[in-house]
Amino acid sequence: MVLSVSSLLSTVVVLLLFTLPSSPKPEFIFTPLKESHIQAVVICSKELGIHLRIRSGGHDYEGLSYVSEIERPFSVVDLAKLRSIRIDIEDNSAWVQAGATNGELYYRISEKSKTHGFPAVAKTLEQGATKILYKWQQVADKLDEDLFIRVYVQTANTSNEGKRTITTSYDCIETNWINSTVYLDGFPNNTLPEVFLERRNLLKTYFKGKSDYAREVIPETALEGLWEKLLEVESPLVILTPYGGMMSKIPESQTPFPHRKGTKFKILYWSRWQDAEENVAKHIDWTRKVYKFLAPYVSKSPREAYVNYRDLDLGMNKNRSTSVEEASAFGTKYFKDNFYRLVHVKTEVDPDNFFRHEQSIPPLPLHMRGRN
Ligand SMILES: Cc1cc2nc3c(=O)[nH]c(=O)nc-3n(C[C@H](O)[C@H](O)[C@H](O)COP(=O)(O)OP(=O)(O)OC[C@H]3O[C@@H](n4cnc5c(N)ncnc54)[C@H](O)[C@@H]3O)c2cc1C
Ligand SMILES: *[C@@H]1O[C@H](CO)[C@@H](O)[C@H](O)[C@H]1NC(C)=O
Ligand SMILES: *[C@@H]1O[C@H](CO)[C@@H](O)[C@H](O)[C@H]1NC(C)=O
Ligand SMILES: *[C@@H]1O[C@H](CO)[C@@H](O)[C@H](O)[C@H]1NC(C)=O
Ligand SMILES: *[C@@H]1O[C@H](CO)[C@@H](O)[C@H](O)[C@H]1NC(C)=O
Repeated sequence: MVLSVSSLLSTVVVLLLFTLPSSPKPEFIFTPLKESHIQAVVICSKELGIHLRIRSGGHDYEGLSYVSEIERPFSVVDLAKLRSIRIDIEDNSAWVQAGATNGELYYRISEKSKTHGFPAVAKTLEQGATKILYKWQQVADKLDEDLFIRVYVQTANTSNEGKRTITTSYDCIETNWINSTVYLDGFPNNTLPEVFLERRNLLKTYFKGKSDYAREVIPETALEGLWEKLLEVESPLVILTPYGGMMSKIPESQTPFPHRKGTKFKILYWSRWQDAEENVAKHIDWTRKVYKFLAPYVSKSPREAYVNYRDLDLGMNKNRSTSVEEASAFGTKYFKDNFYRLVHVKTEVDPDNFFRHEQSIPPLPLHMRGRN
């Protein structure tokens, strides 16, 4: 069950920022092969008082599933080997273990049906899916009348030596669902979907991301200011993802995900770089500058953010003795008023705050708990 630290960190980690020598490393990495192993790990770390991080895919934007800044020593339980997938087309459902990749899930769905799909990458949380499988054909028919296109804003060289410009790209290809997922993952044309079974990571990069939600159209002058900022770093990326549609029809309080009615689009700012440690500060500062620049044009009170684009700038728990008030800084950005309901759920299911990290939901303090 115990792997050496170096073997996990060199083969599985894709987010290079958290592999730097300066990043804290776990004492142990457990890779359970069955559920009872997880129970053993939890009991063990409780008894030894060693803080535990839980890792499924390891894609957390801030590396919280395998790096602890606030508590040492710590261990990691890596669920990569728990990856069974059971698809039931009749029932429109699927059971997927935490270690499975989206690609494996997509492939297994496409094996069973040509008309079902599941948009796990961008839309799982957003649509608050209760049924895991969609009739993809129906989604595709709907798209013909109600087309949602995500916009990628990047920089590109011009024919004028040394000069760069802004490009916006809009993906629009006609293909079946499984091939579209291969394409969206950036594999070369004509790659077969079996590539997903190799669990290959395409992305090996350093990056910092931040997010916003726009409830109004952003004026052209502001966009021009944003384009200027994009030219300040080598590989910036801004993605505008349209909202609305089905997402707006679900009441804000129905699922934790709150960015619904009235949200026009989500913005992701991303800076990536390849040159290791030296430019970390420069790139992170750039994302903070862009975030500050856009403040007048995006949601306010709270300034909403997407929890999947985790951003520690929004606030952090300090250590085990968390405070609901402190956590509300980031909690209400990610979840709006649902944050306080999540605090109550946390108080019920994990009153000792065993599962915690820099941005976990805290339980209520003892003196505020109801007696029943
Ligand atoms: C290149 C890249 C592209 C991305 N694109 C998108 C996108 O298009 N849309 C989008 O919504 N998101 C996107 N994300 C964000 C991604 O969806 C989230 O980071 C998501 O949490 C990743 O899941 P994971 O299993 O890899 O997370 P992990 O890093 O393994 O874990 C994330 C958090 O969940 C906890 N956790 C993990 N497993 C469990 C478990 N079994 N039980 C309880 N807690 C657990 C961890 O401790 C950690 O706090 C992207 C991320 C990257 C790196
Ligand atoms: C753009 O130009 C720079 C040099 O000015 C070069 O280093 C870089 O590789 C070019 N990028 C692309 C995508 O052609
Ligand atoms: C790959 O396919 C896309 C969409 O059909 C097309 O725009 C692009 O030119 C193709 N790329 C190559 C290298 O053939
Ligand atoms: C899916 O992609 C494969 C590999 O490029 C190709 O052979 C197949 O025809 C594609 N199917 C559709 C429906 O586009
Ligand atoms: C948590 O931080 C507070 C304030 O910095 C400190 O007083 C307390 O001892 C810390 N608790 C633990 C468990 O480290």
